[in-house]
Amino acid sequence: MQLLNLPIISKFYKKRNPNSHKGTHGHALLIAGSTDKMGAAIIASKACLRSGVGLLTVAFYPENKSVLFNSIPEAMYANSCVMNDLSLYQAIGIGPGIGVDEISLQYIYELYENKIPVVFDADALNLISKYKIDWNNFNFPFVLTPHPKEFDRLFGEHDSESERRITAIQKAAALNCVIVLKGHKTFITDGIHTFENTTGNSGLAKGGSGDALTGMITSFLAQGYTTLESAILGVYLHGLAADITLQMQSEESMLITDVIENIGLAFK
Ligand code: APR
Ligand code: MG
Repeated sequence: MQLLNLPIISKFYKKRNPNSHKGTHGHALLIAGSTDKMGAAIIASKACLRSGVGLLTVAFYPENKSVLFNSIPEAMYANSCVMNDLSLYQAIGIGPGIGVDEISLQYIYELYENKIPVVFDADALNLISKYKIDWNNFNFPFVLTPHPKEFDRLFGEHDSESERRITAIQKAAALNCVIVLKGHKTFITDGIHTFENTTGNSGLAKGGSGDALTGMITSFLAQGYTTLESAILGVYLHGLAADITLQMQSEESMLITDVIENIGLAFK
């Protein structure tokens, strides 16, 4: 297992071409939020935009566009019930705050014909567990970002973190995906390589932190990084931005919106 550090990231991080345009940096689709959980969509969207994506469209149900446009004028909106052309996008992030009812289940069905990379987080993972979705329906590169409870719902109860890590390696190999097992020391595996994160602090132990990570990983996928590279970049920079935030805040006072404002310093 490798500890995640700057030399690992420097090997694949691509500096932005001065000659680039928004099309160069990809168009991401985030399927996130619902009536009582619009914060999840806003947090994921801000973190996605702060991580370099060229264009971002956000889809949620029921329609509630003004909440999005009032907080994030840079984003576009798509009604999540009519997302019929997924080929417009280079990456999809799905799950934060979408709920686990039959309406959100339709979003999962819509992915069956999809070919572009997807990040499954939060309620997208819970939908897969609840409705026993067959993994064979997903014929595209994907990243799973469960916290330990979501992981156990997907793959069965585990007694310890080390047992979970063993299952994560086996499942990532079997499903041909990348698994990000989140926690104090987030573990990342593609079934062959394994990494443990070294950034982040307990200021992240608050609702919303995971939503930001989903936005970041989706952003890197849209920019053309592989699933493993996107997971590594997202996890490392998410934690680093939280560590930089500690210079102005305490672990108690830190908000995920403060952390998102420091993604820029983390890149530097
Ligand atoms: N040290 C370092 N990093 C931490 C720590 C810590 N002590 N605690 C949490 N983190 C990081 C994790 O590594 C992960 O990246 O913060 C993020 C937390 O992500 P989640 O557990 O997904 O939390 P979040 O989604 O923000 O909030 C809880 O998950 O179970 C659902 O419905 C529930 O909406 C709720 C949500
Ligand atoms: Mg979460």
